[in-house]
Amino acid sequence: MRINPLRRLYIAAETWFKYSFAELNPMYHLGTLTFFFFWIILVSGIYLFVPFKGSVHGAYASVEWMTHQQWYLAGIMRSLHRYASDAAIITILLHLFRELALVRYQGTRWYSWVTGLPLLWMIIPLGITGYWLVWDQLAQYIAMGSAHLFDAIPIFFGSMASNFLPSQMSDRFFTLIMFLHLLGQPLILLFALWLHVRRLSNVNIMPPRGLAIGSFIALIILSLIKPALSHPPADLSTVPQSLNLDWFYLNIYPLLDYWTAGQVWLLTLVITLLLIFLPWFFPKRAKATAVVDLENCDGCKQCFEDCPYDAITVQARTDGKKHSHEVVVDPALCTSCGICVGGCHSANPFRKAEKILRPGIDMPDFPAHELRKRTLAAIDSMQGKHKILVFGCDHGYAVERIKTDNTRGISLYCSGMLPPTMIRFALRKGADGVLVSGCRSNDCYNRFGERWTEMRILSDRQPSLRAGVDHRHIISQGAGPIDRKALEKSVQRLRKKLIKLEPKASE
Ligand code: HEM
Repeated sequence: MRINPLRRLYIAAETWFKYSFAELNPMYHLGTLTFFFFWIILVSGIYLFVPFKGSVHGAYASVEWMTHQQWYLAGIMRSLHRYASDAAIITILLHLFRELALVRYQGTRWYSWVTGLPLLWMIIPLGITGYWLVWDQLAQYIAMGSAHLFDAIPIFFGSMASNFLPSQMSDRFFTLIMFLHLLGQPLILLFALWLHVRRLSNVNIMPPRGLAIGSFIALIILSLIKPALSHPPADLSTVPQSLNLDWFYLNIYPLLDYWTAGQVWLLTLVITLLLIFLPWFFPKRAKATAVVDLENCDGCKQCFEDCPYDAITVQARTDGKKHSHEVVVDPALCTSCGICVGGCHSANPFRKAEKILRPGIDMPDFPAHELRKRTLAAIDSMQGKHKILVFGCDHGYAVERIKTDNTRGISLYCSGMLPPTMIRFALRKGADGVLVSGCRSNDCYNRFGERWTEMRILSDRQPSLRAGVDHRHIISQGAGPIDRKALEKSVQRLRKKLIKLEPKASE
């Protein structure tokens, strides 16, 4: 499979994180980290709400009290609230860029992409209303800028700016901003978050403990070193001169010094539309989706458990067979990753009853029968001793390229597509060693393929590799598209093991 240059570049850049953070690589947990920052924002926000006075005259003084009088608690909470919000923007932007670079938005995955974008556009106004509530000169600058932006929208008939005339600024308007920031926007955001992950299975919303603790400590240290402070109080009869902008949330306002509000809206709209329609600008090459063969399905539900995209459902048996359940694939949700085939215990290459291997669930464009054929052909074509067969993944390193006299590679849609019995079959049919190579560890293109395979090999998940198989002949090693050296090293490691296992001439 051809790897696009952006993906290649991104993976190369991410290699540094892989070696520095190992299992706690933050780039693999950007979505869950964003959730974690939300929890911090929520808890600190609830604390700040108690002493906060929601009126034009009370707001500034109450924030000042929190910052200076009760700096050790409310002050730290304020800083945490601000810095966790900034951190959330960083993780969201990285998450967006990562999904883009790794091309995880195509085909049926358009849904997560399209429901992710509005989250970004919801969080930025949430931050803006937060800065507004301090009612200092920065809030005044935001208020005026926002009024200009809203006045450019025809439905407001140019009426917003008048709210900020010194004589007009009212507690009622302030209460509206407070309602939006404290209740309206967070509730909509929560609903949008639920929509965003609705089509995925086994979604985790907490990062690994070490990463969560590390991020929290970093935020606390930042809050102590550089506490969040206010500008001088708002004064609508003057124009604020020198301001410290939070560029994560307020970057749009300086544009208003150069462009009209209409032009700023147009830019935002164009960027949004370009991003939204991305999955259709670069459509996925269509592969046939998984199909169920009831003749061979006993309704064990393992494929349902394994599918990362919730594309498989279970229903009562419809064909009168003795089994109680059957599975159904929704083609609109299936990404054709093939992980269900790897989880189907009837995808067993030892089955001799029929000439054609027909599992309960299969990929029509690359059926299990074809995989069995390619496995046998690869073993037959190898020469010499210590023959190693590498089962790879279309999204990892292109394993066909490591071909030598005694090494062959077969690439699958995902390493999770490999039924564990195929490993036993390969060893039985003449391979001396089997190397299973999915995407980089913990970074499966299809979310769980690499993890499920590893667990099946270790007998931690069904269908498991038979206990009788000699694990010394098997290695599993994640390798991204650029990790040729790592994969070659693993082949050499396995070969050395095989040489050691060889009975000595004297034995
Ligand atoms: C509030 C911000 C966001 C949060 C908390 C969030 C969270 C998550 C989580 C937890 C996942 C599941 C990861 C997994 O288990 O594999 C995910 C997946 C994803 N997100 Fe986000 N996300 C956010 C914003 C975005 C944005 C702005 C985009 C891009 C437009 C985006 C695009 C995606 C895509 C494409 C997936 C992958 C779906 C798949 O694997 O098929 N997300 N997100």
